[in-house]
Amino acid sequence: MGLVTSRNLGDLEYGFSTLVTLSTLLVGYFTYNYVLRRREYEADMALASQHGCQPMAVAYPVKWPLGFDVLKAQYINNANKRLFAFQQPHIDNLGPNFSMTLLGNTGYTTLDPDNIEAMLSSNFEDWCMGSRRNALHPFIGEGIFTQDGPAWKHSREMLRRPFLKTHYQDLKAFNQHVNNLISNLSSSTGVVDLQTHFYSFTLATTTTLIFGQAVESVEGEDRDTFANSFDYASWISSLRIRLQDFYWACRTNRYGDSCRTVKDFAGGFVDEALKNTDKEATAENSNGYAFIQDLYDELKDPVLVRDQLVNILLAGRDTTACLLSWTFFLLVRHPSTLSRLCQEIQSIIGDEQELARAHIQKMSYLKCVLNETLRLYPPVPINVRIAQRTTTIPRGGGPDGTSPVLVRRGTGIGYIPYYLHRRKDLYGEDALDFRPERWEDGKLDSIGWGYLPFHAGPRACLGKDFALMEASCAVVRIIQTFPDIRVPPEEKIVPTGQEKQNLTIFLASAEGCRVLLQ
Ligand code: HEM
Ligand SMILES: *[C@@H]1O[C@H](CO)[C@@H](O)[C@H](O)[C@H]1NC(C)=O
Ligand SMILES: *[C@@H]1O[C@H](CO)[C@@H](O)[C@H](O)[C@H]1NC(C)=O
Ligand SMILES: *[C@@H]1O[C@H](CO)[C@@H](O)[C@H](O)[C@H]1NC(C)=O
Ligand SMILES: *[C@@H]1O[C@H](CO)[C@@H](O)[C@H](O)[C@H]1NC(C)=O
Repeated sequence: MGLVTSRNLGDLEYGFSTLVTLSTLLVGYFTYNYVLRRREYEADMALASQHGCQPMAVAYPVKWPLGFDVLKAQYINNANKRLFAFQQPHIDNLGPNFSMTLLGNTGYTTLDPDNIEAMLSSNFEDWCMGSRRNALHPFIGEGIFTQDGPAWKHSREMLRRPFLKTHYQDLKAFNQHVNNLISNLSSSTGVVDLQTHFYSFTLATTTTLIFGQAVESVEGEDRDTFANSFDYASWISSLRIRLQDFYWACRTNRYGDSCRTVKDFAGGFVDEALKNTDKEATAENSNGYAFIQDLYDELKDPVLVRDQLVNILLAGRDTTACLLSWTFFLLVRHPSTLSRLCQEIQSIIGDEQELARAHIQKMSYLKCVLNETLRLYPPVPINVRIAQRTTTIPRGGGPDGTSPVLVRRGTGIGYIPYYLHRRKDLYGEDALDFRPERWEDGKLDSIGWGYLPFHAGPRACLGKDFALMEASCAVVRIIQTFPDIRVPPEEKIVPTGQEKQNLTIFLASAEGCRVLLQ
């Protein structure tokens, strides 16, 4: 589907490239040869005229047959880790709504807040995840991320409860992990890559939330095997998502083994928690195991509980690590922002190390910094929904782009928060610059569907508060402990957005986040 299918044929190793190219060709071929059923076609056209739909006027320019020039350019720039930077001028030229026909297959891309609102909220029922379910199934099984419809709704209602109940509310749950992070950083010397530390940190916090104990409690070797398996399975999963209906083409033995390892590991925690509920539960554990117990009461099946937990791990771990890493990436490159934040932290907590929610809530500049980081580097930078029945989107049709567009059943629409958040007509001429102050004067209060780091509507992120509290604690304690943190002198500084990026399901810095701590 346009940008989405072909976006990222880069990253491929392990000899997938040929397979991927072939299968993408097949997608085009089958779609091309798909005989549209006449009656459905007529009904769709009737819907189109009833809504005053017009075709999308703007199409991504393609020079070679089937769009091979575009595929080639995307392949090269993704391999160079600069896909978003490469596409930015094209996106600026095309405007916020355009169609893209690659390999005979037409899909749409929209950066229009009204269209995104229609997909994620008003016409929520018309849309589904499509092949994402199958792409992710071997890894995370049956859970909130692979489900649609009533099954999703059930998961969502069930998962809301433990989020409200667990003891992260008072932030005590983060303290121990932040202390470990700080002591890990204190014992490093010279240039430190914060990004790898953040991946360890968010693994510890998220496993504590869902398993009731940190992954740290496990033997070093098993823990590393688990972490490596999780990373590998998550990386292969991102390739499978891109292949859409041909997800099955991307499967290695190591992928199967990694999925198994992650499941066994998570299953071990579930078994232990359930054993402990039979016994006299200690006060600490009965609280810590809230997630597992709540899910088990509802699902009555340890395997289903385990899979939901792996879903949350996938949702919560890399995303928050990416946020933290980009925050420091930007802060050390903007010393005046860093020093203003440092003053705010000093004035609100001084040397106090036990952070409370009330402290964080008072830090209004910190909120602006996090908002601005999530704007420029949304951890989930690109997404797609498939029309599960024929529907419309309100904008992008006709010569001026103001008419609705018909979207037939099975058509995919990509929406790209990364570019949405960099629209100059929404954020001003300096949209590409890091400037947390833009959030201060209330001008962006009405940005609505123009700002979507956590999504909105019925499927909005369930872990938003958890993630923001976790990230805030880490930022505050690091700056409090290392107020002179800065960019290493030998680091090459490039304009925001021109640095190398690692694009999987998530958006990370491809060169990490190197800093000098002092
Ligand atoms: C900065 C950190 C985070 C960001 C930017 C983020 C962003 C998102 C986004 C964009 C979605 C929608 C995905 C989609 O529908 O395609 C989502 C869903 C979700 N997130 Fe987060 N997330 C973050 C942290 C977390 C954390 C820490 C957790 C849990 C511990 C979490 C749990 C979830 C869950 C369970 C969903 C699925 C909701 C549903 O489908 O109904 N997230 N998140
Ligand atoms: C601290 O370092 C240890 C040893 O490398 C690692 O296992 C642990 O996950 C780290 N903890 C945090 C919170 O970064
Ligand atoms: C795209 O949609 C917007 C609505 O946000 C509309 O104002 C604009 O004219 C459209 N542009 C094009 C080129 O279709
Ligand atoms: C950050 O963004 C959210 C979502 O748009 C907004 O509600 C909030 O006011 C912003 N925070 C600040 C400090 O501007
Ligand atoms: C990109 O991310 C993947 C998946 O997390 C990881 O395996 C790979 O090492 C990363 N590459 C770079 C250059 O950071």
